[in-house]
Amino acid sequence: MISVAIDGPSGAGKSTLAKRLAKELGYVYVDTGAMYRSIGLYTLRCGQDPADAAAVEALLPQISLRLALIDGTQHIYLNGEDVSEAIRAENVGMAASAVAVHPAVRSFLLEQQRGLARTQNVLMDGRDIGTVVLPNATVKVFLTASAESRAQRRWNELREKGSSDDYDTVLADIRRRDYQDSHRAAAPLRQAADAVLLDTSELDLEQSFAALRRIVEQGAAGK
Ligand code: DC
Repeated sequence: MISVAIDGPSGAGKSTLAKRLAKELGYVYVDTGAMYRSIGLYTLRCGQDPADAAAVEALLPQISLRLALIDGTQHIYLNGEDVSEAIRAENVGMAASAVAVHPAVRSFLLEQQRGLARTQNVLMDGRDIGTVVLPNATVKVFLTASAESRAQRRWNELREKGSSDDYDTVLADIRRRDYQDSHRAAAPLRQAADAVLLDTSELDLEQSFAALRRIVEQGAAGK
């Protein structure tokens, strides 16, 4: 089986690029952030604090997650409900980052994520795929961009959706998520020693995609 691990901070374009590349290569795209987001959503719906390790751990036995590919798009089901849209809200992203700190949450998802890579070619994106989930991945990429360029892209997207958030708020949120994701004790965001670094700060979408495809094709060649 071929596995491609793509890690990096929020807003670096991982999911857009990974989704498209998986489609071109005929691999199954696995968005692990959606799994953390679903646990964040469930925690908020239960009225619990995502930062409270004991409270979140107590909820885990009630959570069942399933990923399904519908018309080439990944959908995620939380206890049977399609929450693919609901998990994209900003507050759910913050809750995901908070629940992702707890070791119990990480081990709850680890086996599910490894299981997905056992039987099919996958392109998996997240924060700890190359370092923890798939340490023997065929190809590892660390996809990043400066906080300012990620905030600028995110702000443009939000404006198109009619949101009035200002740029400084978006940048502050990105910095807070970066700090939280890279300073936690359990599986922090970091580049694996054998990952190829791709910095898209100065690249547009097409250039980023071409660079990613080149890295993955070269890495997978002959394996
Ligand atoms: O990629 P994303 O923004 O959808 O991820 C949401 C949060 O989930 C992110 O802030 C950190 C956490 N996460 C993680 O800890 N490990 C992963 N493999 C994927 C996401």
